Parts: sequence; structure tokens; C-alpha cells
Amino acid sequence: MILEALSPIKGDYHLQNYEETYQNFRWEEAEKNFSWYQSGKVNMGYEAVDRHAEGFRKNKVALYYRSNDRLEKYTFKELKEWSNKVGNVFKEYGVKKGDRLFVFMPRSPELYFAILGGVKIGAIVGPLFEAFMEGAVRDRLLDSGAEYLVTTPELLQRVPEKDLPDLKTIFIVGKDVQEKEKYVDFNKRVEKASKNLDIVWVDREDGLILHYTSGSTGKPKGVLHIHNAMIQQYMTAKWVLDLKEEDIYWCTADPGWVTGTSYGIFGPWLVGATNVVIGGRFSPENWYKALEDFGVTVWYSAPTAFRMLMGAGDEIVNRYDLTSLRHILSVGEPLNPEVIRWGMKVFGLRIHDTWWMTETGAHIVCNYPSMEIRPGSMGKPIPGVEVAIVDNQGKELPPYQMGNLAIKKGWPSMMRQIWNNPEKYASYFLPNGWYISGDSAYMDEDGYFWFQGRIDDVILTSGERVGPFEVESKLVEHPAVAEAGIIGKPDPIRGEIIKAFISLRDGYEPSEQLKEEIQAFVKKGLAAHAAPREIEFLDKLPKTRSGKIMRRVLKSWELGLPTGDLSMMED
Ligand code: WTA
Repeated sequence: MILEALSPIKGDYHLQNYEETYQNFRWEEAEKNFSWYQSGKVNMGYEAVDRHAEGFRKNKVALYYRSNDRLEKYTFKELKEWSNKVGNVFKEYGVKKGDRLFVFMPRSPELYFAILGGVKIGAIVGPLFEAFMEGAVRDRLLDSGAEYLVTTPELLQRVPEKDLPDLKTIFIVGKDVQEKEKYVDFNKRVEKASKNLDIVWVDREDGLILHYTSGSTGKPKGVLHIHNAMIQQYMTAKWVLDLKEEDIYWCTADPGWVTGTSYGIFGPWLVGATNVVIGGRFSPENWYKALEDFGVTVWYSAPTAFRMLMGAGDEIVNRYDLTSLRHILSVGEPLNPEVIRWGMKVFGLRIHDTWWMTETGAHIVCNYPSMEIRPGSMGKPIPGVEVAIVDNQGKELPPYQMGNLAIKKGWPSMMRQIWNNPEKYASYFLPNGWYISGDSAYMDEDGYFWFQGRIDDVILTSGERVGPFEVESKLVEHPAVAEAGIIGKPDPIRGEIIKAFISLRDGYEPSEQLKEEIQAFVKKGLAAHAAPREIEFLDKLPKTRSGKIMRRVLKSWELGLPTGDLSMMED
């Protein structure tokens, strides 16, 4: 299985000796890095920003931002002041500790000020990806009982206010905002607000951030993270991202996804690094230019992006001076050995795969700069965390046997709730203390973990996690669709694409035009990345006797594989 092991690079890394640290590390020691260790009262906003603004990093750049029409930078002192101002505005409009405050806007400095401002006053912040359409926005705001929302005039069109009785106040980030009823002019209020904020000190276990994510059944679920997550985010920003004082760091993920908060906001700022944020759309030229212009040293992205860059050809990459880069990381889907080899060729660096998920809040299984990389492996568990392959009863399996990738309950950044759904939360854990990830994997004899696939029907498309239920529910809202089943179909660039199998209602005939209409319907109702790229019409979908669509059978048909046990299928 091992293609060629890539040897560790000699250097001055945070994690010098993985095996030794793994043996000796204790979280109780790491906690002592924080000032709250004395006081017992904590706030992520203070630790990530204010702490630096009051110390020697005061005038260090915390944030570079570039989009089509803006180029800005903010020092830690400025970031503290802006987030304080925003916190004061939220306070003025009644936001209190534990209230759900959602942020639905494109990447901009204001998005970061809003998230930090909310966190500083103890609100539970829910970041929503800007591409979400009305149905997706409604589900998330309703389930969380959000009372406050920060958005832009354009995205406000997708907020179905009449369906959201809990929503009290909407802060609108834009020009010439008319203040009326629920609407507040964000920029105007922030400008007038004080730079000094009475930060709200909370307990370690108090809510910080609510990320909605998809499973194989039901609507997206709200995964709640707490301030205590900072211990693990801080340590992994050192061990895994290997961030140091002089680093310029770029995480390409949007804060609508967990990578964009844990490692786009908290991790890097907890260690006082400089963050680069790029607005707008992906293009190879824009991305290489960002790496060059900002002199990025540490770069965290995803396999789909690397595959797209690889596909764009080496001629483009060779036009840019990327010599500032020293460490590259990847997350979200399997990282092909081929991509690692390409990275060696064009950047002269090994791309380091990292495995974790929304529910884990921070890195779990990773490749470290000081460790040999086995291309195709996710690496080894971070110090302080126990990972194993277990069977469905929680019995540990020997090397090379495939099973559930499981984590021993109790790591610092572990999710603490599924919002409003304690049964669902409990269902992730086995009685003997293993958290079951939903991924299958095996471990080799040296303790490297190898990803094999999802156990459930969750689809990973372009590194984004899509639950089949949400898409199927949207599909059957279309007047022509009687039934729909969706699967992830392997794709060389995107990892998987969404393919829908659809049976039509009486009176409708399959056609190319109807396919396009249905695709547009999902794009408009949910999000572009959730729309099926392929549609196949069937007279009838394979179902169990109790009427459940058998996605497993659809997938086998698609891949030309044996369908396995069909005894559950209706005639
Ligand atoms: C998948 C993203 C293979 C996995 C931080 C996991 C990966 C899901 C890797 C979580 C990796 C994440 N190799 N698969 N290195 N990293 N995954 O919640 O199936 O958006 O369960 O979190 O992505 O996706 P999520």
C-alpha cells in the first residue's frame, strides 16, 4: 500500500519528536498556557485577539483582506477595537450570553468582526455559508431559534422572515440601509459605538459556535462547540499548522464550514499568527497570486482545490514566485498520492493531510512536519487523543482490519451538544466510551491511519459535506418529481459529485430541459453545491418493503457492482 514514504524534513518544528510527545503529553499541562487557568473565567475572543492587542503583538498585522474591490489590513489592536465596537452594538440591541446570533455574509473584514464581537459578549455564533439559499437558511435559523442575524442587503432576500418568529433583529451590512422594524444599519451603529467593551467572561463549557452539518438522515444538525475548544485549537495550530511568529498563514476555507472557524479564525489567532483572507471566487491565477503577493508561508486547503490547480497545468504555477511557502496542509476528503507527488514537483513541499470533522472541533489524525508521510494515509493521532479502529460493539480491531474510525470520548474540542437533539448526540457514542466518526478506515502496523470511505450515505463533494436527505427533500418539492434518491458518484476532480435518480409524476416525460429545470430548482432552493450534477430518470426507485429508498442499490447500479443482499427490497 505504501507507495513511497516521504521522509520528514529537517527543521525547527513545534513538534520535534512525535512519539515522545504522544507518550508524555497531558492536556492539563497545555491549559496552563492560558490566563484563564488562574481565573477560571474565559472568553475565546479575549484569548484570540485582545491578549495579543495588549502585548508585544499589538501592532502586528492580524488580518490581510483582499477582494475585487478592497485591500485592507488590521493589526491585533485594530481587530480588538473593531470587534469591541461590534460587540457593543450587539449588546445595545439586547444580545446576551447564550443567544444564537447568526452571520450570513460573504467573506469580508466585517464577517470576522461580527463573529468575534458576538463571541466576546458570550453569544453562540452560527456562521452560514454565503451560498445557502432560502430553504437551507430557513432550516438552520428555525432549528437554532436564532434571534439575531447579521447579513447583507443581497443575502437578506434569502431570509424568509415570515417563517422565523424568533428572529428579532437583523443587522444589515451595506450602504444606505433603511432602519425600520427589525432592520439595523450595522455600519452606522458600529461607527458610533465605543472601542471599549466589557467582555463577557464565561465558563469553559459555555457555548461558542454552532455549525450545521449533514448526516445521512434528517435535516442538518447543529453541532455545538464551547470555549474550551481553544486548548486543542491552540496546540494543533502549533503541532500541525506549525505556526510561528513570522508566519503568514492562509486558510482557504469559508467560516461557514468548521475549517474556516477552527483554523481560519481561532487556531491561528490563538497563537498570534497573521491571517490572510481572500474574497471572491476560486481561480488558479487568483490563488497563486494571493500566495505570491502576501508571501504566504503556511497554506491550508483541500484536495479538490489542489486537483483543480493541478489540472490547470504547471505552466501557470511556474509564472508565480511561491518560494515563501514552507508548509502545506489539506483537509476534507481523501488526499490522492498523485496530488502529493504533484505538490513535491511544483512547490518542492510535501502536502500534509489532516483528518477531523465538524464534530471533533479540531484536528484528530494528522501528518506532522517532523514525521514521515506515507502518501494516502491521514497520519497519526494528535498527542492527548486516543484513536482506534473498532467494530460496531466498540471492540478494538488489529492492524489492517477495516472498521469504524473511533475516538476516545473527552478530547478538549469535542462537540458538546447536537442542538435540541440529545438522542442524536448520544447516538454518536458507544457505551464503552468510543465516539464513532461514521468513517471507515484501517491502521497499519506502525500506527498510521488509512481512510476507506464513509459508512453512511453522506456525500463529500468538493470537500463539502452534503446530506442526501436534504437534497432529496428539496427534489420532491419539484412538481415533476415523484421520488428521488441521491448518491455520491466518484469524480476525478471533485472527489464525488451528486447524482440523482428520479421517478416522475404522471404526466411528466423525461427530457434534458426537465433535468436542467430540476437542477436550477435545487440551486435556487438549497445551494449550488447541493444540486445534482447528474440526473437519471427511472420508472421506479429501489425501495425497502417499508418504503425507504435504497441508496446502496442505486450506488451499486451506478458503479456496476454486485448489489448484495436484496432481501429487504420490495418486489
Ligand atoms: C471527510 C471537515 C479523508 C470524512 C473538517 C469526515 C476526510 C468528513 C479527511 C468531515 C481526510 C475529512 N481524508 N476524508 N483527511 N478529512 N474527511 O464535517 O469523511 O465537513 O467524516 O469536516 O470529511 O467533514 P466536515
